[in-house]
Formats: sequence, structure tokens, C-alpha cells
Amino acid sequence: MTEQSFEGLTATPIRRLADHVGERVLVQGWLYNLRSKGKLHFLQVRDGTGIVQAVMSVADVAEADFEAVKAATQESSLRVIGTVKTDERAPGGVELTVSRAVIVHVAEPYPIAKKEHGPDFLLGNRHLWLRSKRQMAILRVRDSVIRAIREFFHDRGFHCVDSPMFTPSACEGTTTLFQLDYFDDSKAYLTQSGQLYGEASAMALGKIYVFGPVFRAEKSKTRRHLTEFWMVEPEAAFYDLDDVMVLAEEFVAHIVRHVLRENRSDLADLERDVTKLEPAAGTPYPRVTYDDAVRYLHEHGHADFRYGDDFGAPHETVLGDAHDRPVLVHRWPAEVKAFYMKRDPANPKLALGVDMIASEGYGELIGGAQREDDFGELEKRLVEHELPREAFEWFLDLRRYGSVPHGGFGLGLERTLAWICGVDHLRECIPFPRMLYRIYP
Ligand code: 4AD
Ligand code: MG
Repeated sequence: MTEQSFEGLTATPIRRLADHVGERVLVQGWLYNLRSKGKLHFLQVRDGTGIVQAVMSVADVAEADFEAVKAATQESSLRVIGTVKTDERAPGGVELTVSRAVIVHVAEPYPIAKKEHGPDFLLGNRHLWLRSKRQMAILRVRDSVIRAIREFFHDRGFHCVDSPMFTPSACEGTTTLFQLDYFDDSKAYLTQSGQLYGEASAMALGKIYVFGPVFRAEKSKTRRHLTEFWMVEPEAAFYDLDDVMVLAEEFVAHIVRHVLRENRSDLADLERDVTKLEPAAGTPYPRVTYDDAVRYLHEHGHADFRYGDDFGAPHETVLGDAHDRPVLVHRWPAEVKAFYMKRDPANPKLALGVDMIASEGYGELIGGAQREDDFGELEKRLVEHELPREAFEWFLDLRRYGSVPHGGFGLGLERTLAWICGVDHLRECIPFPRMLYRIYP
């Protein structure tokens, strides 16, 4: 006997019930909803893998079981034994005819009812909000995307290398750094990106990826910004900007194909229009230069956009909607990009950087670049960006000992999920979001 078994039966996940038609099974979970009609209870039971309707007739069960269920509240935990029956109208194609039901715990009145709640209330109850259908679907897609990410890089010979969270310096500009005391008089920063350590690791292993949480002190309250989010950052030796763009489009197409294959029912729970997603399963993705992108903006309602600026959300929306799949914008004015990007030999005012912008207003999914691999040039960039040289001495070493052309990118996991799931706000794409004014629960 284990907690997984009851009355000689081992629990069957709800999503597997269709494989057990006609059998007597045990389902363990929580009461999602209860409707009673005279001698019948209709229980919606969820176990994290799905939701099933369990029909309980007073004629088939012990009276005590029937009464106990009558008193059960939303989110009460329970065990149900029943026979699996096909039912075309049911979501998973099956329902249960109950022969036993045991309440494990009667829940107190549940704060999250079926009615609409405001975002502040839901975020304050995030630990409970996770149990709703939509949030469970997003969590499952997130897990699936993470699997697709690891599978893609493993299959292509990229090794996962972890980077530190405590760092001595900035990677992506000094305005979004979280600073903390690090013993005695020394300061440390929470990492904004694992890239610099990824570059060192790529010089050891050739092809690597860093995957973990990163931190940005974003002072603006937007639906696309979190202060803690997950980034996956491949980095490869002997890659130029074109190699980086090919890797980026194949990577995102792989993720989309994986989700379309594995998460159909989750996308249905989210009411995602998958026809909007399907084109992104194919490559290539369109490529436009920054210059052409600006021209396009000027012709499509943004005549006032100033050449040389970074794109804001409205600009990204217009650019993203010009195509049926994400677009790669490359060769950016060097001033708006990070210190580590290599200049375009054809025009040194431009950096060999690339952003991938999604359609439907989901904005930038990826930022990447070919890196500056020349010692002298990189030294100059540190001065121009007023970065403390001591903290970057080790990074300069990579240009002292067998420097090679190399490049990579960072994909924001939550941005990608928001786009795939068709979710407006990043706060629903990470289990416990961290934002300006939000650190509880
Ligand atoms: O464009 P970013 O800043 O690029 C880098 O950090 C590079 N060092 C990556 C690299 O080349 N290895 O960030 C990469 C991606 C963005 O495209 C976006 O998807 C996401 O990270 N991102 C955020 N996601 C949520 N909240 C924020 N505040 C984000 N800032 C960036
Ligand atoms: Mg960026």
C-alpha cells in the first residue's frame, strides 16, 4: 500500500483514462465543481493532468459516500473509484461512473470563485490561482517548451552550462541592475544574462547553452516585463550573424512544432487560435535590416519614428504583424545595442545584432548578435560604455587566448510562452511572477 494506491487500485492520471474504457479505476485529485440533481451528483474532478466528469448515483454507492460528497466544497481533495465510460460530449471523450468516493479534506470556502476577479486579487492569491484551468494549461505548456528547448540543443550537440547568479558587473546596461551587499565592502549584482559566461564556456566546449533565471530592475510597469524571468542563451564558436539567425529560426520553429504536437488540449483550454501559430512551425523566417524596418514604419503609421532609436511596443506590433511568422530584424545602430556586439565591417555605425519579433503584438522574443572578437575593439567599447575594466578583465582574456568569431542569442521563455499561449500578460507565464510592486506570494 502506498499513497498512490487505494483499495488495491493504483491511481490513473485523468489524461490516460481513455486508455482504460470499461475498467475500474482510481482517480485522486480535487473537486473542481459539483452539481447535484436529486439522486445524482455530477463531480468535476481535476488531478493536474486533466478534468473528468464523475457521475455518482445514490443507487450505486454507499449512502455515507453520497452524503459526504454533498457536503464537499470547491477544491476539496478526494479519491474516486469508478468505471470509465466513453462519452463523446465529454472533454477527454470519457466520464466515470462512480462506485466509491472518499473525501480526503473538506476545503474552506474557496477564495477564487467562478466569477471574474481583478488581476491584483488573483496575483495576491497566485498560489491558489494556479489551480484554475487556464493557469494549469499554461504551466503544462511551459514544461513542454522547456523540454523542447533541451531536446533541440541536445540533438545539435550543444552542452548545457550554468552561469552564476551573483556577478561582479553588468551585461545588459547599468540601468536595470539589482545590486546587493556581498560581504565586507564589496558589491554584487544579480545577473541580467548569462551570456558573458556562455562565451567563456563556448571557448571550452564549442557549442553551449545557458538556461536559467535572470534579473532586471525594470522600473516600468508593462505587460511584457518581469523583474525575474528565464532566458535560454545558446553560444557557439565559429558562428557569424547568419549562423545565429538560422539557429534562432530553427529553434523557435522546433518549439512551435513541439507544442502543436504535444499540447493540443492545453491550447484548446486557452482558446488559442492555432492557425495563427502554424506558419511559425516552418522556416525560413523573414529577415529585414533595421534600415528597412524603419522605412516600413515610416510608411505604416509611424512617420515620426526617429532613425537610430530602439523600437517600442507599438513599433514592434506593426513590424511583427507584417508577417505570418516571427521576423528577424538585423544590423542595428550600434548606439542602441550592448557593448559586446561586433560592428558590421560594411558599415561600422551598425552592430551585427538581431532581434526576433513575434506577430500579434507579442514583441521581442529574442535578442542576439555576433560578438566582438577583437581585443582592441572590445577594449574601446568598454571605455565608450563606461564599464569598469577590472570587472571585465577575464572577459577580455577570451580575446587574448585563441579568439574566434562567435555568436549567440537569448530567448525570453515567458515572452515566448505568452505568444504561443496567446496570453496578454507575462505575469501568467511564470509560476510566481516578480514585478515592480509584486513579490508576494
Ligand atoms: O535582448 P536581451 O536583453 O538580450 C540579452 O540579454 C543578451 N545578452 C542575450 C544573448 O545574446 N545571449 O534579452 C533577451 C530576451 C528578450 O528578447 C526578451 O525575450 C527577454 O529576454 N526579456 C525579458 N523578458 C521578460 N521580462 C523582461 N524584463 C525582459 N527583458 C528581456
Ligand atoms: Mg533585446
